[in-house]
Amino acid sequence: MTLPTAPLGTNGPVVGIQGLGCMGMSEFYGPTDTAEALATLDAALDLGVTLFDTADVYGSGHNEELIGPFVRANRDRVVLATKFAIERRADDPHYRGIRNDPAYIRAAVDASLQRLGIDVIDLYYMHRRDPAVPLAESVGAMAELVQAGKVRHLGLSEVTGDELREAHAVHPIAALQSEWSLFSRDVERTAVPAAAELGVAFVPYSPLGRGFLTGAFAAADQLSADDYRRYLPRFSGDNAADNAALIAPIQKIAAERGASAAQVALAWVHQQAQVHGLTVVPIPGTRKRTRLAENTAAAALTLTAAELAELDPIAGQVAGNRYADMTFTSAGRE
Ligand SMILES: NC(=O)c1ccc[n+]([C@@H]2O[C@H](COP(=O)([O-])OP(=O)(O)OC[C@H]3O[C@@H](n4cnc5c(N)ncnc54)[C@H](OP(=O)(O)O)[C@@H]3O)[C@@H](O)[C@H]2O)c1
Repeated sequence: MTLPTAPLGTNGPVVGIQGLGCMGMSEFYGPTDTAEALATLDAALDLGVTLFDTADVYGSGHNEELIGPFVRANRDRVVLATKFAIERRADDPHYRGIRNDPAYIRAAVDASLQRLGIDVIDLYYMHRRDPAVPLAESVGAMAELVQAGKVRHLGLSEVTGDELREAHAVHPIAALQSEWSLFSRDVERTAVPAAAELGVAFVPYSPLGRGFLTGAFAAADQLSADDYRRYLPRFSGDNAADNAALIAPIQKIAAERGASAAQVALAWVHQQAQVHGLTVVPIPGTRKRTRLAENTAAAALTLTAAELAELDPIAGQVAGNRYADMTFTSAGRE
């Protein structure tokens, strides 16, 4: 099986309708077998995955450096997406600042290009919005990167529907990347309708609920000490057990269909394309070839209307927010 393709935005690149999130290969989700992670990148291309997602913040540049050789070796087949806006400091591992000012953007793109070892980024996202900087100013600076040939297409992450409209009026936006899954459906309020109206593709991140929807978690103490999910409300304390109980209908449908829970969760995300009338290209993250094959096969699984209805109430019952601090999410500004 090879994945069907779809364009990102009106004039954007054509990609396999499921991408690969590379974040966990460098940070956040516990120890990584680097050789297996790199083999997963090659296996993805063989299965028709062409959109590879990274960011300058993942591992403080490590993730871009890690996947750079793979991107360069397959430059004509890979659609490389990276992001700017989350600033870190070498002397303070916990520091996170949001930067949208043009001078920061110009420096960030050059640093990403250098780490990746390429001349042009296919899709460059603003990772988080700083409301203190006018959006038109930031998107204007991003548009100048397109004119300068450093970036091919523009994207945004975690913006509201109104912000997407405002940005799109400055320069065409190919893709909106925000969290969207059976556990996280707040984007359906304003971002999804705006993307559908403007012809912007939706790239759901954490489509497996950061692994929760696969049925792999029942308690936070299952996570390694440095796993970032320990700090997320949904993985903490009583919430973890309450949320684990919500997976039952996903597992039931999976058993009936001879699929895995991860496949049912991903099939649900893919089918939101028909429900909302827009292009949807989820980017599940994995560092393992077996899981990659499993996740890619989910694009061929079609849930029935009765199954979709059975899954519909889950998001409304989830305990805990997506992040401990929702300030810089789209939901925090709606
Ligand atoms: N724009 C943003 O603000 C933002 C935020 C978060 C993430 N992202 C992007 O979105 C990508 C995906 O999101 P995510 O990685 O946070 O979450 P996700 O895709 O929902 O889940 C990833 C987790 O699920 C596990 N997993 C994957 N497939 C599995 C399967 N078939 N069975 C069991 N477990 C499975 C992975 O472990 P293994 O790796 O061990 O398989 C990993 O722990 C990231 O890599 C990143 O590129 C963007």
